[in-house]
Amino acid sequence: MKEQILEALNITKTYESGENRLVILKDINFSLNKGDLVSLMGASGSGKSTLLNILGTMDSPDSGEVRINGIDTVKLKENQLAEFRQNHIGFVFQFHYLLPEFSILENIAMPLLISGKTRNKALLSAAELMDYLDILDRKDHFPAEISGGEKQRAAIARALISKPDIIFADEPTGNLDRETGRHVLNLFQKINREMNQCFFLVTHDETIAAVADRQYYLKDAALTHIKGKEL
Ligand SMILES: Nc1ncnc2c1ncn2[C@@H]1O[C@H](COP(=O)(O)OP(=O)(O)OP(=O)(O)O)[C@@H](O)[C@H]1O
Ligand SMILES: [Mg+2]
Repeated sequence: MKEQILEALNITKTYESGENRLVILKDINFSLNKGDLVSLMGASGSGKSTLLNILGTMDSPDSGEVRINGIDTVKLKENQLAEFRQNHIGFVFQFHYLLPEFSILENIAMPLLISGKTRNKALLSAAELMDYLDILDRKDHFPAEISGGEKQRAAIARALISKPDIIFADEPTGNLDRETGRHVLNLFQKINREMNQCFFLVTHDETIAAVADRQYYLKDAALTHIKGKEL
């Protein structure tokens, strides 16, 4: 039996704008186990990013629980949450958000530096990870000096460096051409297989969604399970 790392119970989220009440998520139940690679598709505006942000503790639901490693994250205060995220969660977005004034090596080491590791240790870990991801030869470059695919690989390395329980990726290939996107996807698969890293992947691309062990679709505020063994 696989170890469960995330359990979301009865998640609801509604936005009010003027007269309108937009029900984005209605009574969603969902869980993730160690080593899972799960994908989520759905039309634009269906609430994928909202769900990802709630599961990733960046946003809070109107009601429901998000338990990560048994901790009800909805109940944590903002400062506790920030520390919780540092230790347990990684994010990769459509845009890389690398800091332009730091080298790629420093960017990747940044989460460790922020969490108080010494500079030497942090840079050494970053270099090891860059080597593993085959981008070590770009370590002294700055973000403006590397390609889009390399930037995304650096963003993945930065998400991975704290050894998070889950990496949430919101359209990580959305800004890349098909071939580069495929390359980045291969990297997710390699990390998933070799490091047993859990990924929650939001994508518009069916071929990308299809590599997941479990595939979901969000429509009318509800999650439909469309492939793989349901938990
Ligand atoms: N702060 C907010 N206030 C009001 N409505 C919001 C807010 N944030 C998001 N929404 C609405 O909630 C819906 C879901 O947004 P969300 O960003 O989760 O969609 P998505 O599925 O990720 O779309 P896309 O594929 O375009 O990224 C959208 O209709 C959006 O307009
Ligand atoms: Mg979105």
